[in-house]
Amino acid sequence: MLIAITMKGYAQTARLPQLGKSPIDSVVAAMTLEEKAALLVGAFDGTELGIPSGFTGATYPIDRLGIPYTLMQDGPTGVKIKPNFIGDGKQRYHTGFPVATALAATWNTDVVSGVGAAIGEEMNADGIDALLAPSLNIHRNPLNGRNFEYYSEDPVLAGYMAAALVRGLQSQGVGAVVKHFAANNQQTMRMFNDARISQRALREIYLRNFEIAIRESHPWMVMSSYNRLNGLHTQYHEGLLTRLLREEWGFDGVVVTDWTDTRNTTLQIHAGNDLLMSGRAAQRSGIVDGVMGGKLSMADVDRSVRRVLRYIEGTRHFKGHVPDYSPNLEAHAPISRAVAVEGMVMLKNQSAALPLPKGDTVALFGLGGYTLYANGRGAADVYPPHKVSIAQGLAKAGVALHPTLDRYYRDYLTVENNLLEEINTPTFKNEFFGYNKPKEPELLAATVEMRAKDCGVAIVSIARDAGESEDRNVVEGDYLLTTTERRLIDNVSEAFHKQQKKVIVVLNIPAPIDIASWRDKVDGILVIWQPGQEGGDAAADILTGKESPSGKLPMTLALDYFDDPTAKNFPRNYAFSWDELLHPGEQVLQIRNLGYTEYEEGVYVGYRYFDTMGKAVAYPFGFGLSYTSFGYTKPKVRVRDGRCNVSVTVTNTGKMAGKEVVQLYITAPKGTMDKPKKELKAFAKTRKLKPMEAETICMSFPMADLASFDEQQMAWVTDAGNYLLSIGASVEDIRATCTLTVKRASVAKAPTRL
Ligand code: BGC
Repeated sequence: MLIAITMKGYAQTARLPQLGKSPIDSVVAAMTLEEKAALLVGAFDGTELGIPSGFTGATYPIDRLGIPYTLMQDGPTGVKIKPNFIGDGKQRYHTGFPVATALAATWNTDVVSGVGAAIGEEMNADGIDALLAPSLNIHRNPLNGRNFEYYSEDPVLAGYMAAALVRGLQSQGVGAVVKHFAANNQQTMRMFNDARISQRALREIYLRNFEIAIRESHPWMVMSSYNRLNGLHTQYHEGLLTRLLREEWGFDGVVVTDWTDTRNTTLQIHAGNDLLMSGRAAQRSGIVDGVMGGKLSMADVDRSVRRVLRYIEGTRHFKGHVPDYSPNLEAHAPISRAVAVEGMVMLKNQSAALPLPKGDTVALFGLGGYTLYANGRGAADVYPPHKVSIAQGLAKAGVALHPTLDRYYRDYLTVENNLLEEINTPTFKNEFFGYNKPKEPELLAATVEMRAKDCGVAIVSIARDAGESEDRNVVEGDYLLTTTERRLIDNVSEAFHKQQKKVIVVLNIPAPIDIASWRDKVDGILVIWQPGQEGGDAAADILTGKESPSGKLPMTLALDYFDDPTAKNFPRNYAFSWDELLHPGEQVLQIRNLGYTEYEEGVYVGYRYFDTMGKAVAYPFGFGLSYTSFGYTKPKVRVRDGRCNVSVTVTNTGKMAGKEVVQLYITAPKGTMDKPKKELKAFAKTRKLKPMEAETICMSFPMADLASFDEQQMAWVTDAGNYLLSIGASVEDIRATCTLTVKRASVAKAPTRL
């Protein structure tokens, strides 16, 4: 009997269209409504379907039509999967790369593509088809808990950097999922918050990043975000997901929802989502009931089914790739270290405090020096094979650390808190609430003074953590230093300066903290961000002078948090996301910054505000010091085939080899619209130049990118006139200028109102 059924099944299968062998339309025609619904909804609980467990998401297999499952995985700083995911007793780790903000701080698209390719290789090792990354929302406000996972306050830097990651990933035959589309800029009430944004700010800031990334890298997928946009959930927004994304921008991949679970499935599919996550039975029945009840057209369903099938056909899994579960961690560790080095930003280096004087014993203060925050928390977390602390990195580089101090911190962590072991164990993490953070111990001023006598230099490490579903706050221990940290900086500075010895602060931070209030007390400041698993080695490369710092800030560091124009309209003092407690369903909750957030600053985000208003900052956008110096020649401009190409020769005029980031800003001629004083249009980084060595670099952007968005006309408008091109080492440090003349104004209609 069993044989007969199997034979019958085989005979049926042989006659049925098979994905890859038959035209997609005939596969669609052979599918039942239930099968279509299954394909459009993630296989959340797919183990009984033969889907391996431990993966973030999967598509549903339909064996009789030759449709295999495919796997999706977080996330932006490396493959995030629990080390025991196979369940065979072996622990398998993945390389922890620097967070996206650190990648952006490299301003080097080539190294970011290299990271993408390395992550792509690790995905292939595990048979993962699509990575839920990059996250490229804008750093609208410094306190968004996920800023570390995002690139920049500037859409051009964010867009090109994300594109570089996508190109690297997709060069390995796996897909990227660009997220979170769109305007997902706060964690507080992240599922329901209504981002209220002008058409212009949307087009020029919050969508521009996505537009560039999609145009430059053709990602396989786009993820629709949790939040609302101007009253409507982005996932219900046909204007956003279909009119703009597909019809205006020409995106032809799959739109996958964020891990929303059940919403109005009919509206979601109709708006243009093709794959609903995470995948619940209710989502499947929502589609079936929608079609049966006449609320959802079969045409909408079939359109999405076709897109999902095209994605599946393109996967390496479909093409027969078999995972071997052995990512090449040895090859990827040096990539992680090199990119971490390139992203570190030196903010201060008074009297050449850095590199560390050779042979000096270093007094390393602060728990952060002994416990690295390598990555952030949540979807962008990673389980790496190890994490190199600053203390370990310095020791490996041959730097003598003061033994008593070193032992003191280790003992404090191991004995008193019993935490050192745990923190250095890759699996030790609470997904959403982070580490059981050890408290910074209070050092006696007398102890600090003793160390100042027997050490040549002091390093104070300040570390912070952040993660998904929680925004940060302007409180001690978060944006502000704690009293203990302030006292540590005070005591160390006083004691070491009394001995004519220097004090360096190393910031292991996910996003901006207050710096202005204490920076005058120290000689050097190095921002290492959350630098990935090799962070301590990378920091040592810079601190010892093996490498010259070449990272530049991807955001403005304000003198005071409240100087930021978005501070008025950003949630504070909410300890957690509030989604569960205040679930407003389909209503917009009428509470400012919880239920809705007014983007009153319009396009004046980050440097567009500070630079235009002439408001002083602590460190401007694009800023970063080097151990060497660079000279720029006068730029040459050439317009050709609709692109503006600007070349400039950069010479290393200092004494050490190093790389320079060159930024190209434009100032539009006076017209009817109010515009930021300068806007980044392109950037490039030199190769490592030896002293007196020069390189001519070329920066290029489409002439269409000169336009601003005119809400009245719903069009991109380029005014005629003279545009000033400023070539700078930061937005405030302009080294050369030239003019670009646009003879005739142009108007490009972009009719989708959002
Ligand atoms: C996050 C996404 C992530 C997804 C799957 C969501 O909560 O917002 O960024 O990819 O979970 O883990």
